[in-house]
Amino acid sequence: MRMYDIIEKKRDGEELTSEEINYFIEGYTNGDIPDYQTSALLMAIYFQDMTEEERANLTLAMVESGDQINLSDINGVKVDKHSTGGVGDTTTLILAPLVASVGVPVAKMSGRGLGHTGGTIDKLESVPGFHVEISNDEFINLVNRNKVAVIGQSGNLTPADKKIYGLRDVTATVSSIPLIASSIMSKKIASGADAIVLDVKTGSGAFMKELKDAQSLAKAMVSIGNKVGRNTMAVISDMSQPLGYAIGNALEVKEAIETLKGKGPEDLTELCLTLGSQMVVLAKQAENLDEARNKLEENLRNGKAFEKFKEFLESQGGDPSVADQPELLPQAKYKIDVPAKEAGTVSEIVANEIGTAAMMLGAGRATKESEIDLGVGIVLHKKIGDSVEKGETLLTVHSNKEDIEEVKQLLYKNITIASSEIKAPTLIYEVYT
Ligand code: URA
Ligand code: CA
Repeated sequence: MRMYDIIEKKRDGEELTSEEINYFIEGYTNGDIPDYQTSALLMAIYFQDMTEEERANLTLAMVESGDQINLSDINGVKVDKHSTGGVGDTTTLILAPLVASVGVPVAKMSGRGLGHTGGTIDKLESVPGFHVEISNDEFINLVNRNKVAVIGQSGNLTPADKKIYGLRDVTATVSSIPLIASSIMSKKIASGADAIVLDVKTGSGAFMKELKDAQSLAKAMVSIGNKVGRNTMAVISDMSQPLGYAIGNALEVKEAIETLKGKGPEDLTELCLTLGSQMVVLAKQAENLDEARNKLEENLRNGKAFEKFKEFLESQGGDPSVADQPELLPQAKYKIDVPAKEAGTVSEIVANEIGTAAMMLGAGRATKESEIDLGVGIVLHKKIGDSVEKGETLLTVHSNKEDIEEVKQLLYKNITIASSEIKAPTLIYEVYT
């Protein structure tokens, strides 16, 4: 087999066989195939697309390029959730204990990563004592006993994806549906998921800004999952404004606690119930989405989801009393209210720019070496569609620096108040089951 022929075939719009795809992925991962040939193939894929069969084969080839986590010692169907990323997305912190409380095993591998706020692990580490440095055996025992545990990413997962992503980044081939879908799905499958729930975001704060692109991506990933024997469902949800009210690590933990008590923001609660219902059905803990949702709502009401969260924190060294006393979480020195400059209805809260403001306060990492300031962030008081009086608090900045002028300017620039009535945006655009 020759890489030249594979490039030529895709260039001419033909379908690659699984042998050809494997040859390419193995060769590129071990260094036999050079960057320039891989770049040419990626560009051919960008223009010619891939069939569902090719996408599934590409995904599996990338899964096989590195280690695969074996979760077979955990009882039950292991369902993982993936979000394509947004601002102030606290869903994992809520979903993990919530679905565990109805019997779904949650074996979560999580990263720190770069972004506006930290990853799930950073957020959880704002709970004093909580740690993810546990052995694989302990991880598996915890999931079998409590139904939920979180461990840091380890092992050499999908090296082909890492290498290809680096090349896509510099060859203008990132925004290709078959390449994005196989990249995301390969990582979930290598992490040991039996079934997968996807939260594909759309709007200004999302990777897929247009609804039609989010739809193509969701359909592509659901098709890959189902083709390779991992039942997959998806939701397309709004990321034109931040989810919930809090953006920041400890602030989001506090918001998750409120939500687990059944007193969380409406949008965050609704999205968790929607995604959670899919997880419960895929884990075979309910016959259908309605039954699953009833079970989850019941456990938000009766305190079982909240108790599960405390048990989860304690089992990994965390102080469970933060759940009853959130003031024990890291706190910023200054809490500065930012007032509305005029009266009207909030019409725009540009999610990614609000995220950037949180990052400027120190809530996220700009580089891998940056330290996160766990206590800082932003708490919105208003969302799109809410009316506001002149001088009323729009949001509160939690900062460890007294001078927040630059952050304030950015926030004002990205929150619009209109004089006409505005409807709240749709939260959930599509559900794929
Ligand atoms: N996220 C991924 O993990 N892969 C992509 O290709 C794009 C976004
Ligand atoms: Ca939030």
